Amino acid sequence: MSHSASSASHHSEPFDMVVVGGTGDLAHRKLLPALYYLHRHDDLPETGRIVAVAREETTREQFLQDLEKSCRQHVSPGDFTAEDWSSFAERLHYLAVDAANIESLGGLRTVLDDDGGTSRTRVFYLATPPNLYGTISRAIAEAGLIDDTSRIVLEKPIGHDLASASAINTAVGEVFAETQIYRIDHYLGKETVQNLISLRFANALFEPMWNSSHIDHVQITVAETLGVEGRGGYYDHAGALRDMVQNHILQLLCLTAMEPPSRLEQDFIRQEKIKVLRALRPMSRDDIAHKTVRGQYRPGIIDGKSVGGYLEEEDIRPSSRTETFVALKAEVDNWRWAGVPFYLRTGKAMGHRVSEIVIQFKTLPHNLFGSPAGALHDNRLVIRLQPDESIKLALMVKKPGVRLRLKRVHLNLNLADTFDERTPRAYERLLLDVLRGNATLFMHRDEVEAAWRWIEPILDGWKERGEAPRIYSAGSWGPAEAITLVLRDERNWYEQVV
Ligand code: BG6
Repeated sequence: MSHSASSASHHSEPFDMVVVGGTGDLAHRKLLPALYYLHRHDDLPETGRIVAVAREETTREQFLQDLEKSCRQHVSPGDFTAEDWSSFAERLHYLAVDAANIESLGGLRTVLDDDGGTSRTRVFYLATPPNLYGTISRAIAEAGLIDDTSRIVLEKPIGHDLASASAINTAVGEVFAETQIYRIDHYLGKETVQNLISLRFANALFEPMWNSSHIDHVQITVAETLGVEGRGGYYDHAGALRDMVQNHILQLLCLTAMEPPSRLEQDFIRQEKIKVLRALRPMSRDDIAHKTVRGQYRPGIIDGKSVGGYLEEEDIRPSSRTETFVALKAEVDNWRWAGVPFYLRTGKAMGHRVSEIVIQFKTLPHNLFGSPAGALHDNRLVIRLQPDESIKLALMVKKPGVRLRLKRVHLNLNLADTFDERTPRAYERLLLDVLRGNATLFMHRDEVEAAWRWIEPILDGWKERGEAPRIYSAGSWGPAEAITLVLRDERNWYEQVV
């Protein structure tokens, strides 16, 4: 193993992690590569076992072969070594099991009971469609696989509207206590998202200005260049609002807008986030027309390559009206944020992959310098989540020279250049938190439901209006109406991708 043996086993207690949906896309692309990284960096106790289960009748050998292929693809080339892979593979088991069926769970029980006498934290990671969460929870309980120390991890989306989310939460809650349930949002595991908390609360500089007296507006953009990548079956029934806004983007909004929690502990942070969600101004029917834009991509060019439109993707209904882009103007009705719009947008098949939170400060009350000095640009803080995580502050300074001319420059903190430490992937941090029993970065039931409560009227309003999504070319920044959304308020989207 490439890591030092000296720090072994100090990160979490012995565990068994059962990945339900172990042959699926999420497990292969994200979860198991993240566990590989944790293993490689000696962050897992030696006794930790990973049991992938799925309905597929395949052997452990075949499972490992397929997984090795995926890991080679989803782990950075220099980080994948034969030595680390083979020691990681020793932790891995595969079982063909229908986790929703009690009889079928007998085999899993045998494997889990054969624990070499070590007491282990048992974690069930449900990487399955959410409509199975309740059934699987009941089945594993009835099969006698869980106790009060077991944990369950639920992937987003939790439901497709408020009623289904609440039904899932209730069904899982009949088996697990809220403290045993880890609702994951992988955006909260991203380094720069956590850095947002440090930036706000570990510096004296920003917090006094973090309010409507000094901030003009906030923008949150999550732009992807990818299309639906073989997930058409799911995506076509979800769309961008459910897939990205209900969870990731609202979480980013919450961390940006929340009050300082009195402690950095799970319930304190979660309570502050819930307050933000509850303060979001509900969208009226009229607002839906003016404050929301939904789009769908047509063929275009991304990175110099022609790409097809959404309707040509696999498993998409030929006349689908699902949105692959959404832009919204959200308002947080509380003392701190009254009058400060939060412009949110996300889309697939866009020209750049970039996720950013932009804090645009207000215009100075008075311009001392006059026009010969040049335009006075407002200060702006740009927190880039990906790629190239960075924190950038735009300031006005004097240009060198005998005349007084001003120029906007950037204090630019690039995290990769500043630190030697590697940046772990979002799932690594979160999986380790589950094993350590730290739910700070996971969502409480009330949070998920509060988010749906705000999202649902938008979905209903769209349905009622029955409009087709606005079209945009793949490789663009979305439909023209998204530009109008901010232009109407005499603002522009920040689109400097450098
Ligand atoms: C997932 C969405 O939650 O997040 C995907 O379901 C999206 O549609 C993905 O592509 C984006 O995650 P990341 O970490 O690549 O920005």
